[in-house]
Amino acid sequence: MTNTKLLYSDPLAAAIVAANEIADRSKIPAHDIALVMGSGWVSAVDAFGAAEFESNAEELTGFLPPMVEGHSGKVGSYVIEGNGKKIRALVFLGRTHLYEGKGVEPVVHSVRTAVMAGCKVVVLTNACGAINKTYKVGQAVLIRDHISLTAVSPLSGATFVDLTDLYSKRLREILKKEDASLQEGVYVHWRGPTYETPAEILMMRTMGADLVGMSTVPEAIAAHALGAQVLGISLVTNAAAGVTGQKLHHEEVIAAGRAAADRMGALLNGVIPKLL
Ligand code: HPA
Repeated sequence: MTNTKLLYSDPLAAAIVAANEIADRSKIPAHDIALVMGSGWVSAVDAFGAAEFESNAEELTGFLPPMVEGHSGKVGSYVIEGNGKKIRALVFLGRTHLYEGKGVEPVVHSVRTAVMAGCKVVVLTNACGAINKTYKVGQAVLIRDHISLTAVSPLSGATFVDLTDLYSKRLREILKKEDASLQEGVYVHWRGPTYETPAEILMMRTMGADLVGMSTVPEAIAAHALGAQVLGISLVTNAAAGVTGQKLHHEEVIAAGRAAADRMGALLNGVIPKLL
């Protein structure tokens, strides 16, 4: 049975307990980088080879069972070599979303656990709808900044954290060196679970947004507040509502993610050793 009591009463303590459980069970005392694999990204992890350790996340303190298709709810430890380095990556296959209605604590528990496990860099991946009409399905876009239309923060109290460089410029530059075709965009966080209306998409475009999705923003804030550097990568899985006149389906989102998984895995595998 998942222990979520501590998660809600003392979220940081829950993250420390979960990080210690990972260290004890894996016999790997610390990790360098965390990756959260969003909808359709899960099989990109095949590029990293075999996991040295794997667990159902719900066996660890504070983690909820997975709710969404395309989110396996596993956590794995991988070694990624390159650039003369051996990087230990803690990979979360799936995430909890605000639309699940469990509050913001479970949404950010993975990244808090990762930072408590030693991770200095947090890579957040997601599936998104393209508001920007120049984007194509299957294209990866680096998140340059965000607009939070949920206005839900994982922080409470007088913690006035600066978000000017939330999506690390240094990390984005490394990605763009690796793949010069990568573009950058502004991501809007939409609570869901309904997709947006065409009128809402028009509002978002007018506000200066390029991408829309139901994740990433609370995790980015929580990781940054704990001192980690954040990289956000969105995979365009569909044109946003009203752009093509087609209706949106979750299956389409998952299928576009699957189709791009090998390409996304290769990109991540090649670039990760350069991020640290
Ligand atoms: N809107 C919100 N979230 C999404 C979308 C979208 O169009 N596509 C994938 N996740």
